[in-house]
Amino acid sequence: MSGHGDPIRMSSQKCGPLSGVAEVPGDKSISHRALILGALSVGETKITGLLEGEDVLDTAKAMRAFGATVTQHGAGEWSVQGVGVGGFAEPEQVIDCGNSGTGVRLIMGCMATSDITATFTGDGSLRKRPMGRVTDPIALFGAQSYGRQGGRLPMTVVGAADPAPVTYTTPMASAQVKSAVLLAGLNAPGQTVVIEKVATRDHTERMLRGFGADVTVEDTPEGHKITLQGRPELVAQTVAVPRDPSSAAFPVCAALIVPGSDIMVPGVSQNPTRNGLFTTLKEMGGDIEFLNEREEGGEPVADLRVRHSALHGIEVPEERAASMIDEYPVLSVVAAFATGTTVMKGVHELRVKESDRIDAMARGLEANGVSIEEDEDTLIVHGMGQDGVPGGGVAATHLDHRIAMSFMIMGLAAQKPVSVDDGSPIATSFPIFEPLLNGLGAKITRD
Ligand code: S3P
Repeated sequence: MSGHGDPIRMSSQKCGPLSGVAEVPGDKSISHRALILGALSVGETKITGLLEGEDVLDTAKAMRAFGATVTQHGAGEWSVQGVGVGGFAEPEQVIDCGNSGTGVRLIMGCMATSDITATFTGDGSLRKRPMGRVTDPIALFGAQSYGRQGGRLPMTVVGAADPAPVTYTTPMASAQVKSAVLLAGLNAPGQTVVIEKVATRDHTERMLRGFGADVTVEDTPEGHKITLQGRPELVAQTVAVPRDPSSAAFPVCAALIVPGSDIMVPGVSQNPTRNGLFTTLKEMGGDIEFLNEREEGGEPVADLRVRHSALHGIEVPEERAASMIDEYPVLSVVAAFATGTTVMKGVHELRVKESDRIDAMARGLEANGVSIEEDEDTLIVHGMGQDGVPGGGVAATHLDHRIAMSFMIMGLAAQKPVSVDDGSPIATSFPIFEPLLNGLGAKITRD
């Protein structure tokens, strides 16, 4: 569980060329889902490459609380003895999901159609985030929720004893909401249908199929439509978690902005619902080669060779937002080192992430001498060119790992060092961030 330790002030400073191989940890989204689907299956699921970040460890604890046996065997090697669809036990204690919106929202979904009650909470960041986006659709299955004002945690969910299947159009582009509905649909009879206007990350659909559920996906005039046949028997699987493209984003962006850099980042997902950042960086002039394209753990992956590049600002197409939603913070740092202006529109969902990421990036960029413009749905960064970013400021991270890591990347190429008030949330998603970056030649320190 995060957010309970002392804040860790961190700084980074200008460094020489980055070189070497950046082996980033397992994908966070896929790690959560492997534990959850393992818990909902019959038999023993074996997982390799699991991300051992705090967010995922909180989900592992939660699955134990609902009755699954979750065991660590070695680094990244885990097993889950599942209880089967509809087999969740009622937890005796409050479920603390720490910093993780994915954890709490997916777990609320998968217990919502069982005749049990569970109470959820999280850290200071998670307790501010909206849960109505999940409690609204699970109410259609018959679940009841009682939370704080504005649909905030702590919250108690009373699962539906006699769930009805649901057809639901997601009101926002959110894989967490889509996944919560699909996971609730597992224990409802008949067909559960989710329609999303913009396709979001599809790991839940892929993995449900892998565990034996009948899931169909089609593009219809109403949108991207996913249909799940309820009450399948999910059968335990072996899951090899691929590396996290959202973590890969940090060494990739560092290499692009630090002069002389030339690094390899192996096994990065090229899943089209996740790879928007790489497309954007190429459009900005980034020298990124996609080598050895193949499939790993059911995901298309490639080895990335990334070299320092002269970058220019672009307008990022709005329709790309879902495929790079977690990468806008680090993109806004890269944009500061480009020439010209980078316009990021259609990004209002950033306001309800681990922090209000538009505000956190805007304030941190300004504190480091970069001029920005923002409105509810837009962030614009006025690039200062390769050598023009002053730095010298302290950014507030608001318990947000990606804000902390983004500013640590900024300091590697800014004129003066860049600091963050609290880098401790980095442990939620990328526990080896500092040694990995420093191993490439970065200068990131704890003050
Ligand atoms: C995630 C979905 C996204 C993303 C988050 C992980 C997932 O959130 O920002 O880091 O694993 O489903 P939203 O569903 O809120 O867009």
